[in-house]
Amino acid sequence: MNEQDKNGFDRREFLKGTSAIAGATAIGTLAPLGLAHAQGTKLKVGLMLPYTGTFAPLGIAITNGIKLAVAERGGKLGGREIEYFVVDDESNPAKAPENANKLVQRDKVDVVIGTVHTGVAMGMAKVLRESGTLWINPNAGADEVTGALCAPNIFRTSFSNWQNTYALGKVVKDKGHKTAVFITWKYGAGEQMNASFKESFEKQGGKVVKELFLPFPQVEFQALLTEIANIKPDCVAAFFSGGGAVKFLKDYQAAGLKGKIPLYGPGFLTDGVLEEVGDAAEGIETTLHYADSLGTKKDDAFRLAYVKAYKLQPDVFAVQGYDAGQLLAAGMEAVKGDVSKKAAMIKAMESAKIDSPRGAFTLSKAHNPVQDIYLRKVVGKQNKVQGVAWKQLADPATGCKA
Ligand code: PHB
Repeated sequence: MNEQDKNGFDRREFLKGTSAIAGATAIGTLAPLGLAHAQGTKLKVGLMLPYTGTFAPLGIAITNGIKLAVAERGGKLGGREIEYFVVDDESNPAKAPENANKLVQRDKVDVVIGTVHTGVAMGMAKVLRESGTLWINPNAGADEVTGALCAPNIFRTSFSNWQNTYALGKVVKDKGHKTAVFITWKYGAGEQMNASFKESFEKQGGKVVKELFLPFPQVEFQALLTEIANIKPDCVAAFFSGGGAVKFLKDYQAAGLKGKIPLYGPGFLTDGVLEEVGDAAEGIETTLHYADSLGTKKDDAFRLAYVKAYKLQPDVFAVQGYDAGQLLAAGMEAVKGDVSKKAAMIKAMESAKIDSPRGAFTLSKAHNPVQDIYLRKVVGKQNKVQGVAWKQLADPATGCKA
């Protein structure tokens, strides 16, 4: 027998509930008590995100997005208020298992939402696969998380590292570029985005003539920019994000490369940075599962609410956090706040259609969004949508046995 009995009543929760009520026998009389218990306590949500370092703005935007989704539901999910347990993971993979364990073992959270950095997500995966704690990943693209390491309790509301650069490879080739240099940080996300760009660009007949890396989160780009100037490729594709992206865009312009060698990237390069980079990003085209000017009813309402709440423009990271909140809400509503009904909660989450500002999306079998990848262009302070670069792109989920 599975965890739920025929009445949809959770057996373990039932036993917990009955131990204090000797003599009570009918399920019918106990169900409301169980419900009252579930709804009376706060849902413990662990936030494991970077709040310091180059990705700090991303962690903040994600947190804002989550809280907006909760606020839109009157501060409750499935009838329960939320208690947040917050860990600054500093985008430090070495500390990831310990940080995840703080939330799981010490705080005993019901669900973990995190993180941004692929290396940190790999550390989290080990802990959360073992504990079985529900995990919603609102950014980190680690292909493995919805690939070889996929699991029923692991969900992602963002992207796989493979997705956006796979679309980019085709876009760049279609523009007539034959050679490209890829430049990024030497860690999981950079390596995987580089690999999928190369896979796609070369499948179309292009050639990645050089792959340039520097250690995360370093921003000493000068020597590498000189190398690019010497190579003279048709174009450059770059993955940087947060503070590192701001510095790269400015340095690319200062090195005299802007306007000479066209620069592309997955949209992380230009999202959330336009207020800071002046005209260094103007005209840059990128691919991403979100854009600033989609003009849909849902996106307009989201953007208005976000600006009102935080006096900041939202970006893709805010959207991913918001959708993590929405996905959790879908699970919580299905079990009326009783998270001990884990199988039912997971079922509701994996079959949810998320009404995202990016456009509605569903999850693949491996729990990664199947989504449109937009082509955008920086115009002033906006990543303006130019069209859809790839419709309903699903990650191949290599190695996922779920
Ligand atoms: C990642 O490490 O997976 C990552 C970080 C920042 C981004 C995108 C991906 O903007």
